[in-house]
Amino acid sequence: MFKKMEKDSFYYGFPVVLMTTKDTENNKDNITVISSTWTLGKSIVIGLGLANKGYLNLQVGSEATFNVADATIWKNIERIAKTTGNFNLPDFKKQAGYEYCTDKFSLGGFTKMAGKEVQSVRIQECPIQIETSITELSIRSDFAIIECEIKGIFVDEKILYDDSHIDVNNWSPLIYKFREYTTANQSLGTNFRFQEFKD
Ligand SMILES: Cc1cc2nc3c(=O)[nH]c(=O)nc-3n(C[C@H](O)[C@H](O)[C@H](O)COP(=O)(O)O)c2cc1C
Repeated sequence: MFKKMEKDSFYYGFPVVLMTTKDTENNKDNITVISSTWTLGKSIVIGLGLANKGYLNLQVGSEATFNVADATIWKNIERIAKTTGNFNLPDFKKQAGYEYCTDKFSLGGFTKMAGKEVQSVRIQECPIQIETSITELSIRSDFAIIECEIKGIFVDEKILYDDSHIDVNNWSPLIYKFREYTTANQSLGTNFRFQEFKD
């Protein structure tokens, strides 16, 4: 028996990504924790709340780097989860207990690495880093859908089999499932087009 239900947010299981952007006015780096992303070919599409500092930075020309988290850093991520880089906190965020934070890198214990193809920094603790520039920005009522073009992909050797293949045994993406942090590293089998490495 299926029950029809209404839900404001519906996180049925998405990778957790730390989006880094730069405030072009003062050169300050920000981290926005997101889970609304998908990737196809050279594009990444994301969903961002309009009050988020990450969105405000993109709106005025920042590039974006998507640092894909693994399961080991969920506590670091939760430390910055209730913060925003937006000094002008909207009321709904104040009421939810969010606080303004000038340096989420220190608060979360994240290490900056210089960007290679774009200005936004990479996060060393994330084994997959995807540098992008923004190609399309489309505003809905309280969020924006943003399309980004991939400029460079950087993968930590610890999850590589060789120069062009991921060792999938060593990659445990952090998954946000109905607001619970979990991971996805139990193999059930592989697709007929599987191209990476596996023991
Ligand atoms: C695991 C997780 C996933 C999230 N996913 C999104 C998302 O996809 N889009 C979004 O706008 N906010 C998302 N949020 C909320 C933002 O991280 C939050 O609004 C934060 O204050 C934004 O930071 P900023 O204002 O410094 O950009 C998520 C939060 C967590 C903890």
